[in-house]
Amino acid sequence: MTNDLKQFIADNLPKIEAELYALVERIKAPESLKESMLYSLKAGGKRIRPLFVLAVCEMFHNKQQEALTVGAAVEMIHTYSLIHDDLPSMDNDDMRRGKPTNHVVYGEALATLAGDALNTLSFGVLARMEQVEPHKKVELINLLSIASGAEGMVGGQVLDIDGESRRLNLPELEHVHVNKTGAILRFSIESGAVLSDASMEEREALVEYAHHIGLAFQIQDDILDIVGTTEELGKTAGKDVESHKSTYPALLTLEGAKDKLEEHYIQAINALEKIEKNTFLLEEFAKYIVKRNK
Ligand code: IPE
Ligand code: IPE
Ligand code: MG
Ligand code: MG
Ligand code: MG
Repeated sequence: MTNDLKQFIADNLPKIEAELYALVERIKAPESLKESMLYSLKAGGKRIRPLFVLAVCEMFHNKQQEALTVGAAVEMIHTYSLIHDDLPSMDNDDMRRGKPTNHVVYGEALATLAGDALNTLSFGVLARMEQVEPHKKVELINLLSIASGAEGMVGGQVLDIDGESRRLNLPELEHVHVNKTGAILRFSIESGAVLSDASMEEREALVEYAHHIGLAFQIQDDILDIVGTTEELGKTAGKDVESHKSTYPALLTLEGAKDKLEEHYIQAINALEKIEKNTFLLEEFAKYIVKRNK
């Protein structure tokens, strides 16, 4: 990671954490539910999605507070998706973000409900933003609903589970990755464009960048499942192989998956060339995503 990206992350991470916790701590809800929601949020995580919202807004030089709130909303959706992804009925994982998974600590019922509560809270958070015009809030809520729902992440998770009982082909697997992981990353990047009043051309280029970032991110996640260790990842390594999941390495071999990763990295960088702004941070993020070891 370059010093510039390190600095950007160091400057913004504390603000992201503060916004996220404040939004959840102020809700009126049963204490056990709040505790379970905050347990998974406070367990850590790279906060890539809020950082993307902020990085896009930074490129347009504005909307820091709004970006923090949208970033918190998307991190709530992401964290809910991880709590549900780890449930015994899904990936059945007992470790996440270096800690026992939510259902291991709070039981399946409360873990499921904490996920539900984070999911719904995220939309309320967007609706209540005071500094964003109503038409933009509706657009953001609509985009997040599509990205996180049946036509996006949830639909992708369904096909991902299908991929355990039959071998998906490459177009099918690409479709899974674009939806289960890519859709939320796309929202993180596109929402920055909405907040910043990007032109149609800029927005299209950012969405193209996001498409390749989403694929690259999940391909690297699949690779790390094989080459990473449980300690580094903070989640159980080797889980995909154990559950016979259709992944890029399973279909293309580890080397083939790495080639695909490189292809999507290059295409992401190429998309940025269409933007006449300083895209340095987004280039650095792309590099980090393909090189990360956790
Ligand atoms: C893991 O996401 C799940 C995927 C969508 C691949 P991250 O790798 O961003 O997990 P955290 O948020 O850092 O824990
Ligand atoms: C999860 O994909 C994508 C989500 C929508 C949560 P994985 O099942 O590969 O994520 P990890 O490896 O458990 O983090
Ligand atoms: Mg999964
Ligand atoms: Mg999983
Ligand atoms: Mg994985």
